Amino acid sequence: MEEKDGTSNGSTTAQRWDARYEAAEEPLFGTAPNEYLRMVAARSDFRVRSALCLADGDGRNGAWLAGRGLTVAALDISAVATEKALAFDRFNRVTVERRTADLDSWSAGPGQSWDLATLFYLQAPAGTRLRALEQAAAALAPGGWLVVEAFSKEQAVHANMGPEDPGLLYSLAELHGATPGLAVVEALAGEVRLDEGRRHRGIAHVVRFAARRPE
Ligand SMILES: C[S@@+](CC[C@H](N)C(=O)[O-])C[C@H]1O[C@@H](n2cnc3c(N)ncnc32)[C@H](O)[C@@H]1O
Repeated sequence: MEEKDGTSNGSTTAQRWDARYEAAEEPLFGTAPNEYLRMVAARSDFRVRSALCLADGDGRNGAWLAGRGLTVAALDISAVATEKALAFDRFNRVTVERRTADLDSWSAGPGQSWDLATLFYLQAPAGTRLRALEQAAAALAPGGWLVVEAFSKEQAVHANMGPEDPGLLYSLAELHGATPGLAVVEALAGEVRLDEGRRHRGIAHVVRFAARRPE
């Protein structure tokens, strides 16, 4: 179980994710972008030119957005994931400004803003989730979109995927509570069939949340 200081069994969050990515022979969550991101991107009112991908892992979502012509910045706590993501970008002939950073301490630089901020499957303690959501919302340009998908608290009882600890899982209430300045476009919780690499496959209970900073 994740402890308050981010350590578990003596290893840090970064070390645990580094080990997972190091051991993976294929992209951990597949090479295709997240399905909900594709759904939001298909909306007629979704017009964005820049994106910030938080906890982007080995890069599927950042690379996909860059391939659509967006200027993309991305971060992840795992240096191994970041290296793999950069290799994935090169393979796809796209450029993403990637860095290794911890959402417990990262903030956008002065004057930096993006038309889209994404957060997919950051299954982390409440303090980290809340800070990540607040930072993402604060980094949005006027009219910008926040798009989130993650396992919901209901997923804790299902052994097929995701954390068993409900403390690492999301509720719609916390998404609403963390983003008071945004106008909600969609806030959904329910079962979807995931097909995202070997770790996210099958029916799962998730939250899907899209909200915009007012113009
Ligand atoms: C389940 S993976 C999802 C990766 C990616 N968003 C995707 O959907 O393909 C969760 C990611 O969150 C990252 N992560 C966990 N805690 C983090 C933190 N405090 N700051 C930044 N990234 C973190 C992990 O390294 C991992 O890449």
